[in-house]
Amino acid sequence: MSSPLIWPFNRFRQSSESLLDRYNDDSIMTTEMRRLARNLRYAHYTHQGQDATNHVSDVKAVLFTSAQAHEGKSFITSLLGITIAKDNPGQKILLIDSDLRRSKLHEFFVQSLTPGLSEVLQDTSSLNEAIQHTDLPNLFLLPGGNADAISPERLLAASRTHELLRACCDFFDMILIDAPPIIPVDDVSILAPYTDGVVMVVMAKHTVRGEVERAIELVHASQAELLGIVINKVKQIRHRYGHYSSKERTVA
Ligand SMILES: Nc1ncnc2c1ncn2[C@@H]1O[C@H](COP(=O)(O)OP(=O)(O)OP(=O)(O)O)[C@@H](O)[C@H]1O
Ligand SMILES: [Mg+2]
Repeated sequence: MSSPLIWPFNRFRQSSESLLDRYNDDSIMTTEMRRLARNLRYAHYTHQGQDATNHVSDVKAVLFTSAQAHEGKSFITSLLGITIAKDNPGQKILLIDSDLRRSKLHEFFVQSLTPGLSEVLQDTSSLNEAIQHTDLPNLFLLPGGNADAISPERLLAASRTHELLRACCDFFDMILIDAPPIIPVDDVSILAPYTDGVVMVVMAKHTVRGEVERAIELVHASQAELLGIVINKVKQIRHRYGHYSSKERTVA
């Protein structure tokens, strides 16, 4: 397993407009997202000696979770998706909202909740119908859908979930999966083994060490690889150069 890597992020104000409209290619946040994207892409490379790097396998499907709720998973998954899509116009990027209890990705893109993953898993919609275009031509969204009638754990545990992720991997170059927190519910343990790895989002000065340790333990127990840790809402102390070199460098 590669060592967890830590990336700081800045504060971000939320409004009802699409994250895409407020995205700033030159912001400090975008720089951090590029760093995160690069680290993920190379997370399965092993370093031997000083220069030699061995290619093990590409990281394609990455799941984002956290120890507890409200640590910024959906926000970071969305911003990372936008960054990768913008920087790689030749690649098709898919965001999957697998948090069937508190689906959020569609809100960040001001799109509809249904049909989505729930409907595909219940066979009331096809994957083609459920995957939505966003305003970026190479960024796509599979929203959560409506899972009111059935337990999300039971839905995700169906063998159809694996088939669905495989089908997505065949068609898309990168898949970012927004998942629920790992401690309160068991959905991540069901999904994580089907992915290439897990990123843990930790809200700075909010989540206690014991919770993060428990969350990491649960990732390992699910037989998934922990690719790294993102520390969210870290103060801007490390970005003085960005402030110095431009007048306004925040995304909002
Ligand atoms: N770096 C940040 N700066 C400012 N606001 C942020 C940041 N990260 C997240 N937020 C805001 O905090 C709130 C919670 O974020 P988000 O919905 O991404 O958390 P979550 O971990 O997905 O929550 P849940 O566990 O409910 O799914 C949102 O309003 C989001 O816009
Ligand atoms: Mg969320």
